Amino acid sequence: MEPGPVILVTTQHRGIPNVMTNGFNMMVRHAPPLIGCTIGPWDHSYTALRETGECVISIPGSELAGAVVDIGNCSGQDVDKFHEFGLTPLAAQEVQAPLIAECFANIECRVADTALVGRYDLFILEAVRAWTDPSQPHPRMLHHRGDGTFTLDGETIDLKDRMTKWQYLL
Ligand SMILES: Cc1cc2nc3c(=O)[nH]c(=O)nc-3n(C[C@H](O)[C@H](O)[C@H](O)COP(=O)(O)O)c2cc1C
Repeated sequence: MEPGPVILVTTQHRGIPNVMTNGFNMMVRHAPPLIGCTIGPWDHSYTALRETGECVISIPGSELAGAVVDIGNCSGQDVDKFHEFGLTPLAAQEVQAPLIAECFANIECRVADTALVGRYDLFILEAVRAWTDPSQPHPRMLHHRGDGTFTLDGETIDLKDRMTKWQYLL
Protein backbone atom coordinates (compact mmCIF):
# COMPACT_ATOMS: atom_id res chain seq x y z
CA MET A 1 0.00 0.00 0.00
CA GLU A 2 1.12 3.53 -0.60
CA PRO A 3 -0.07 6.65 1.20
CA GLY A 4 -1.02 9.98 -0.39
CA PRO A 5 1.28 11.86 -2.76
CA VAL A 6 4.66 12.97 -1.53
CA ILE A 7 4.21 16.47 -0.18
CA LEU A 8 6.39 19.19 1.25
CA VAL A 9 5.33 20.63 4.60
CA THR A 10 6.53 24.14 5.38
CA THR A 11 6.58 25.68 8.84
CA GLN A 12 7.83 28.91 10.33
CA HIS A 13 9.39 28.64 13.77
CA ARG A 14 10.68 31.72 15.60
CA GLY A 15 10.71 33.60 12.30
CA ILE A 16 12.71 30.97 10.39
CA PRO A 17 11.00 29.11 7.53
CA ASN A 18 11.65 25.39 7.01
CA VAL A 19 10.43 22.58 4.82
CA MET A 20 10.30 18.79 5.16
CA THR A 21 9.28 15.91 2.90
CA ASN A 22 6.23 13.87 3.91
CA GLY A 23 4.93 10.65 2.42
CA PHE A 24 2.55 9.47 5.16
CA ASN A 25 -0.50 11.66 4.61
CA MET A 26 -4.14 11.15 3.72
CA MET A 27 -7.45 12.96 3.19
CA VAL A 28 -9.71 12.54 6.23
CA ARG A 29 -12.82 14.61 5.55
CA HIS A 30 -14.41 16.84 2.88
CA ALA A 31 -16.08 19.41 5.12
CA PRO A 32 -14.39 20.83 6.98
CA PRO A 33 -11.44 19.76 4.80
CA LEU A 34 -9.20 17.68 7.08
CA ILE A 35 -5.89 16.07 6.18
CA GLY A 36 -3.98 13.57 8.32
CA CYS A 37 -0.22 13.92 8.35
CA THR A 38 2.33 11.82 10.25
CA ILE A 39 5.28 13.93 11.34
CA GLY A 40 7.71 12.35 13.78
CA PRO A 41 9.34 13.98 16.82
CA TRP A 42 12.76 13.40 15.20
CA ASP A 43 11.87 16.15 12.71
CA HIS A 44 12.48 19.82 13.44
CA SER A 45 9.13 20.39 11.70
CA TYR A 46 7.40 18.46 14.51
CA THR A 47 8.54 21.04 17.07
CA ALA A 48 7.55 23.89 14.77
CA LEU A 49 4.11 22.42 14.13
CA ARG A 50 3.47 21.73 17.81
CA GLU A 51 4.51 25.22 18.86
CA THR A 52 2.88 27.25 16.06
CA GLY A 53 -0.09 25.06 15.09
CA GLU A 54 0.35 26.11 11.46
CA CYS A 55 1.90 24.78 8.27
CA VAL A 56 1.56 24.77 4.50
CA ILE A 57 1.22 21.60 2.47
CA SER A 58 3.04 22.25 -0.81
CA ILE A 59 2.56 19.69 -3.55
CA PRO A 60 5.54 19.19 -5.85
CA GLY A 61 5.40 18.01 -9.44
CA SER A 62 7.71 15.25 -10.63
CA GLU A 63 10.37 17.68 -11.88
CA LEU A 64 11.16 18.45 -8.21
CA ALA A 65 11.68 14.76 -7.34
CA GLY A 66 15.42 14.97 -6.62
CA ALA A 67 15.07 18.03 -4.41
CA VAL A 68 12.09 16.44 -2.62
CA VAL A 69 14.23 13.45 -1.57
CA ASP A 70 17.16 15.67 -0.56
CA ILE A 71 14.83 17.88 1.53
CA GLY A 72 13.81 14.73 3.41
CA ASN A 73 17.42 13.81 4.07
CA CYS A 74 18.55 16.87 6.00
CA SER A 75 17.16 18.97 8.82
CA GLY A 76 16.20 22.59 9.11
CA GLN A 77 18.21 22.56 12.32
CA ASP A 78 21.37 22.37 10.19
CA VAL A 79 20.41 23.78 6.78
CA ASP A 80 18.44 26.68 5.31
CA LYS A 81 16.55 24.38 2.96
CA PHE A 82 14.81 27.15 1.00
CA HIS A 83 18.24 28.56 0.07
CA GLU A 84 19.97 25.19 -0.33
CA PHE A 85 17.34 23.80 -2.72
CA GLY A 86 16.52 27.01 -4.59
CA LEU A 87 12.91 27.19 -3.37
CA THR A 88 11.08 30.52 -3.46
CA PRO A 89 9.02 31.28 -0.33
CA LEU A 90 5.83 33.26 -0.89
CA ALA A 91 3.71 34.85 1.83
CA ALA A 92 0.63 32.86 2.75
CA GLN A 93 -2.59 34.61 3.66
CA GLU A 94 -3.86 32.80 6.75
CA VAL A 95 -0.67 31.37 8.31
CA GLN A 96 2.92 32.43 8.95
CA ALA A 97 4.46 29.41 7.18
CA PRO A 98 5.40 30.17 3.55
CA LEU A 99 4.01 28.83 0.29
CA ILE A 100 6.53 27.38 -2.18
CA ALA A 101 6.35 29.10 -5.59
CA GLU A 102 7.76 26.07 -7.46
CA CYS A 103 4.97 23.75 -6.22
CA PHE A 104 1.83 23.45 -8.35
CA ALA A 105 -0.48 23.63 -5.31
CA ASN A 106 -0.18 25.03 -1.79
CA ILE A 107 -2.64 24.41 1.04
CA GLU A 108 -2.51 26.61 4.13
CA CYS A 109 -3.32 24.53 7.22
CA ARG A 110 -3.97 24.86 10.93
CA VAL A 111 -3.64 21.99 13.36
CA ALA A 112 -7.20 20.91 14.15
CA ASP A 113 -6.63 17.89 16.40
CA THR A 114 -3.58 16.53 18.23
CA ALA A 115 -5.33 13.61 19.94
CA LEU A 116 -3.31 11.03 17.97
CA VAL A 117 0.03 12.85 17.98
CA GLY A 118 1.19 11.24 21.22
CA ARG A 119 0.50 7.70 19.99
CA TYR A 120 1.04 7.92 16.25
CA ASP A 121 2.65 11.31 15.48
CA LEU A 122 -0.54 11.88 13.48
CA PHE A 123 -1.61 15.52 13.13
CA ILE A 124 -5.08 16.31 11.86
CA LEU A 125 -4.77 19.50 9.81
CA GLU A 126 -7.57 21.72 8.60
CA ALA A 127 -7.06 23.30 5.18
CA VAL A 128 -7.96 26.98 5.50
CA ARG A 129 -6.90 28.26 2.05
CA ALA A 130 -5.65 26.61 -1.13
CA TRP A 131 -3.71 27.91 -4.11
CA THR A 132 -2.93 26.41 -7.49
CA ASP A 133 -0.43 27.56 -10.10
CA PRO A 134 -2.21 28.01 -13.46
CA SER A 135 1.14 27.76 -15.27
CA GLN A 136 1.33 24.08 -14.20
CA PRO A 137 -1.99 22.70 -15.50
CA HIS A 138 -0.89 19.05 -15.85
CA PRO A 139 1.39 18.25 -12.92
CA ARG A 140 2.46 14.68 -12.17
CA MET A 141 2.50 13.95 -8.45
CA LEU A 142 5.06 11.67 -6.83
CA HIS A 143 4.05 8.59 -4.82
CA HIS A 144 6.60 6.99 -2.49
CA ARG A 145 6.78 3.20 -2.66
CA GLY A 146 8.49 3.14 0.73
CA ASP A 147 12.04 2.32 -0.27
CA GLY A 148 13.30 5.38 -2.14
CA THR A 149 11.53 4.42 -5.37
CA PHE A 150 8.60 6.48 -6.63
CA THR A 151 5.64 6.15 -8.97
CA LEU A 152 4.56 9.21 -10.96
CA ASP A 153 0.96 10.04 -11.81
CA GLY A 154 -0.03 8.60 -15.16
CA GLU A 155 -3.17 8.67 -17.28
CA THR A 156 -6.36 10.33 -15.94
CA ILE A 157 -9.68 8.58 -16.62
CA ASP A 158 -13.11 10.25 -16.28
CA LEU A 159 -15.86 8.15 -14.65
CA LYS A 160 -18.01 11.05 -13.45
CA ASP A 161 -21.11 9.61 -15.11
CA ARG A 162 -20.99 6.67 -12.67
CA MET A 163 -20.78 8.94 -9.57
CA THR A 164 -24.54 8.84 -9.13
CA LYS A 165 -24.51 8.86 -5.33
CA TRP A 166 -21.86 11.60 -5.10
CA GLN A 167 -23.14 14.28 -7.47
CA TYR A 168 -22.22 17.08 -5.06
CA LEU A 169 -18.55 16.22 -5.45
CA LEU A 170 -18.49 16.72 -9.23
C1 LIG B 1 10.34 10.32 0.48
C2 LIG B 1 10.36 10.72 1.92
C3 LIG B 1 9.20 10.64 2.68
C4 LIG B 1 9.19 11.02 4.02
N1 LIG B 1 8.03 10.94 4.73
C5 LIG B 1 8.01 11.32 6.03
C6 LIG B 1 6.81 11.28 6.78
O1 LIG B 1 5.74 10.93 6.27
N2 LIG B 1 6.84 11.67 8.09
C7 LIG B 1 8.02 12.09 8.68
O2 LIG B 1 8.00 12.43 9.88
N3 LIG B 1 9.18 12.15 8.00
C8 LIG B 1 9.20 11.79 6.69
N4 LIG B 1 10.36 11.85 5.97
C9 LIG B 1 11.58 12.27 6.66
C10 LIG B 1 11.71 13.77 6.87
O3 LIG B 1 11.42 14.48 5.68
C11 LIG B 1 13.14 14.05 7.36
O4 LIG B 1 13.30 13.49 8.67
C12 LIG B 1 13.53 15.50 7.33
O5 LIG B 1 14.91 15.55 7.51
C13 LIG B 1 12.84 16.35 8.38
O6 LIG B 1 13.28 17.68 8.23
P1 LIG B 1 13.21 18.73 9.42
O7 LIG B 1 14.10 18.22 10.53
O8 LIG B 1 13.75 19.99 8.79
O9 LIG B 1 11.79 18.83 9.83
C14 LIG B 1 10.39 11.48 4.62
C15 LIG B 1 11.57 11.56 3.86
C16 LIG B 1 11.55 11.18 2.53
C17 LIG B 1 12.83 11.28 1.75
